[in-house]
Amino acid sequence: MANIPRDFYNLLREYGALLPSRLLRFPLGIPWPELHNLLLENVLLDQHFTSYPPSVEYQRAFWKAAIDHLEANIPDPLVTKAPSYSTHFWATDPSYLTQNAVDLTLLQNSTLLESRTFIEKGTTGLRTWPASLALAEYLVTQPDIASKTRVLELGSGAGFLGIVVGSIQVLHGDERSSLHLTDVHEEVLSRCEKNVNLPCNTSSQHRDIHYHALDWSNATDSTRRSSLTRLFENINADVILGADLVFDPDLILALVETIAVALQESSSGSSRTKTAILALTVRNQDTFDTFERLTSQYFHLHELPTPRLSMFLGLPEGKESPSEITRNVKMIQLSQKKQGKYSYGQ
Ligand SMILES: C[S@@+](CC[C@H](N)C(=O)[O-])C[C@H]1O[C@@H](n2cnc3c(N)ncnc32)[C@H](O)[C@@H]1O
Repeated sequence: MANIPRDFYNLLREYGALLPSRLLRFPLGIPWPELHNLLLENVLLDQHFTSYPPSVEYQRAFWKAAIDHLEANIPDPLVTKAPSYSTHFWATDPSYLTQNAVDLTLLQNSTLLESRTFIEKGTTGLRTWPASLALAEYLVTQPDIASKTRVLELGSGAGFLGIVVGSIQVLHGDERSSLHLTDVHEEVLSRCEKNVNLPCNTSSQHRDIHYHALDWSNATDSTRRSSLTRLFENINADVILGADLVFDPDLILALVETIAVALQESSSGSSRTKTAILALTVRNQDTFDTFERLTSQYFHLHELPTPRLSMFLGLPEGKESPSEITRNVKMIQLSQKKQGKYSYGQ
């Protein structure tokens, strides 16, 4: 039998001796998850106490006191730092979510292991950002955009959008559907791949998802630009996606150049018009203005309505979104201008 902390033994003794619940001493020095497990193993599931239990009334009083104690000491999930699985439910028919009774088996989910801090291991890519929830909602409500197409995502992060787009392609796609997820950070890309392939996500059934290490700075480096061009020629994406990519003023030019290469028509020719759909969080107006100025010089820029995040966060229709979640997310669509096509260095 494993040793148990002295403080917990005191509590166990009090429980066995049927001490009134107001006199119970719950150990204060034992961390919440450990105390939770000690209570499960040594009280609720313990062989002795299941064979020789206190009366039902006493057990009820004990567990009420235990739950009150645990709840008073539980860390706030919003400030917890440990990585966590998150699950966002969604439906290919969004009207389904407004019904009174919801059959969970008819819902999709996007489940991923993600960081709960803004920056971990020097990257912002290990967690999901609100802009990608907005872009995902836009794509779920218009599945034709991403379903039977070749999709490239820039700065894929932990993979939330990749899971949603991969699932849309499994559900509505055809032989043309493919998905290329990219990121500069090795661990982020590997986390993204693991998340997309979690068996609970429909995206795990997709047979044409690819993961590429990609640094936007290659686009502004004359020696590395050709490798980027070759990669994008091979991918030949119809749709380029990106969520929360405009955050570092020093990376804007490289990002715009990367989008420009991705939007270039392939030399093999294609009847489809390439388009980029981006959801961007405006944190600094100057940085965002610079991005818009650079892109509008070479591309048609069209602002799209930003979804309300009612699908993934369950925010009720017709009410203001909490600003800390949806703050300043802008959706824009870019496409090549027929005339004055973008050409690097001009
Ligand atoms: C704010 S996060 C957004 C992640 C994800 N799109 C989302 O919205 O949840 C920015 C992402 O861009 C990636 N990134 C940063 N610099 C990059 C670069 N130079 N080249 C490619 N990706 C980069 C980061 O690794 C990170 O995954």
